[in-house]
Amino acid sequence: AKNSTNNITWHQPTVSRSERWKARGHGGAVLWFTGLSGSGKSSIANQVDSMLVLNNNDNDTTTTTSSIHSYVLDGDNVRHGLCADLGFSLEDRAENIRRVGEVAKLMADAGTVVLAAFISPYRVDRDRIRSSLEGVAPFCEIFVQASLGECESRDPKGLYQMAREGKIKNFTGIDDPYEEPLNAELILDSNSKSVDELAQEVVQWLQANDILK
Ligand code: PPS
Repeated sequence: AKNSTNNITWHQPTVSRSERWKARGHGGAVLWFTGLSGSGKSSIANQVDSMLVLNNNDNDTTTTTSSIHSYVLDGDNVRHGLCADLGFSLEDRAENIRRVGEVAKLMADAGTVVLAAFISPYRVDRDRIRSSLEGVAPFCEIFVQASLGECESRDPKGLYQMAREGKIKNFTGIDDPYEEPLNAELILDSNSKSVDELAQEVVQWLQANDILK
């Protein structure tokens, strides 16, 4: 609404998206990892990143031979900078996801395979990103599925214990909601499979959908 009063117009870039992607050797995409804290979003996203950028695929015969421009956008990291002013209320989480969704869209437009790892607990926020990428770049919602019990037993940062003790309020899964995806392109079984196995499932999905071309 603000922009409609500010005389802002859209400046058409000189280089088109398809020209840019062609020159780069592959197109952009947004892979959106969603799941509880401790479900493995960041670990899997970073493993995929390593497989794409470094061709780090020792026991995988499916990856391509040239490097893919990918980049991990991670909740913990983004909250140190771009979203340092935001907390964990419903409104702040929505604004967090809106901002990183916009960043992911710009990066995908530039030809990057964006690996976004955010709890992103609300369906409406994730769906908004899906819609905003229509006609721009492929969007893949990846549900990193691990039970609350499993995440709580991992508790890598000790946050679940603090939440149980009431030292952290509004902790996702404990006293704040997590809305599971209804139409995820990919569901990763993080209860029983390793980070390596799940990262390979993601790379295989990218190949099956011609995103690495
Ligand atoms: S969100 O909901 O998408 O805006 O969250 P995100 O930006 O992904 O940040 C999640 C990480 O923040 C830490 N943290 C919390 N998570 C959930 N609820 C509360 N109240 C909270 N407070 C801090 C936590 O370490 C999350 O990290 P991950 O990597 O998901 O475990």
